[in-house]
Parts: sequence; C-alpha cells; structure tokens
Amino acid sequence: MRDIRLEYVRLVHDTIDCLESGFRTKGRVSYPRIAGDPHEDKASRIREISSAVVRCSRCGLSQGRLHAVPGEGNVEADVIFIGEGPGSSEDRQGKPFVGRAGQLLTKMLAAIDLRREEVFITNVVKCRPPQNRTPLPEEIAHCFPYLERQIEIIDPLVICCLGGPAANTVLGSSVAVSRLRGTLHQYRPDSGRPGGLCIPVIVTYHPAAVLRFPEKYRRPVWNDLKLLRDYYRDIKTVR
Ligand code: URA
Repeated sequence: MRDIRLEYVRLVHDTIDCLESGFRTKGRVSYPRIAGDPHEDKASRIREISSAVVRCSRCGLSQGRLHAVPGEGNVEADVIFIGEGPGSSEDRQGKPFVGRAGQLLTKMLAAIDLRREEVFITNVVKCRPPQNRTPLPEEIAHCFPYLERQIEIIDPLVICCLGGPAANTVLGSSVAVSRLRGTLHQYRPDSGRPGGLCIPVIVTYHPAAVLRFPEKYRRPVWNDLKLLRDYYRDIKTVR
C-alpha cells in the first residue's frame, strides 16, 4: 500500500527545494505575466479579471446566467479553494459558494481554523451550467484562462480542489477523485513558460457530495482537510 506519509514528506521537501532555489517565491512569480501591468497591485489585477468575467460571452453558459461568479476572497490568500461552477444561489448573488454547499464549505474551513475572508474561493467555470450539470470540456476550456490568471496573481501556497471537474482541470488529468485525494499533487501551468509555478494541490470531494451522501464522504473529506491543515502549517513554518 502506498505510504501517504512518505509521499507527503517527499512533496514537502520538493516544495521547500522549489522555494529555496528561487524557482518561485510567494509574491514573486518567475514567468512573464500573461497580461496587465506588473506594477499594479493584486487587488486591481484580480478586479480586472472579475470585470472581464462579468462581460464574458466566450461560451453558451453566458446566455443563461443571471450573474457571472468570478470568485471572491483575500487576494493575498495562502489557500485557494476551487469548485466546479455556480449553482442557483451563486447565480442569483454573483458570489461563489453561498448556497447549502457553500455553508458547508464555510464550516469545513472553520474546522481547520480558516475563515472565508482569509482564503480565495472560485470555480472552474464562472457561469452556472443549466440544471447544475457538469460543465462541458469546451466550457471549461473557454473559462480556464480566468482561473489560471487568478492562480498566477494570488500565487497561493496551496490549492484545494473540490470535486472531480476542479481537480482534473487544475491537474490536467481525467481521474476519479477517489484516486487523487489523500495526497499532494502539483499545479504546473503551461510548460512553455520559463520557470513556471509549482503549487501543491490537495483534492477532495465536493461539499455537495458530502451533503448528498454524508456517510460515504464525511470521513474522507475530513482526512483531506487535515492533510491540508497539516501541510499548510508545515509550509508556513519553513517559510
Ligand atoms: N458548487 C460549486 O462548485 N461552486 C459554487 O460556487 C457553488 C456550488
């Protein structure tokens, strides 16, 4: 059986090497900015993305939305949480994770001593898919550049993907959450960019899955949250 603890230690060391070698340090990304003035502060660069998102009509999801949901939170966040796409409450309010799943996410954060205001919360697609269906690959492909830029600007210490679409988009994989969870992965955007980011990624089930099947998902999600909490504490200590 795979020894998750060994893998964890190896990934912590990889990440420390990465930070120490100057490959990447928080707040200083070694590849050229995709767009925008590098001297602008993070908040205004994130605002620029949000206003591009609310004007976006790259895919059919824009036709059915009440509000686009760019994401919200602390632009200096150490942790980004990424969901699948807005539901009906989010579509009405223009804010991510404000419905039942969002209330559970807020409790999950509190369980690991995080407050919503200190993290950044966003989704793979920024407009609600009809009947809350899973976003289509082409919808994800149109929307992913917004997420890539949010990650690039915020430059978090760790990313937490909630559910399969978020995990597989961020990791460029197509694997079940059951096979991705319980360990650390790394986010590396296009290899074409010199340097590149190396941001640890933790995958867990979506809070909506926990609401639907608590007996099945509560325990693994709690274990993933503890992995996130412990990893985050460790990495904060060595930085
Ligand atoms: N589910 C998601 O994936 N994202 C939200 O913002 C709300 C529910």
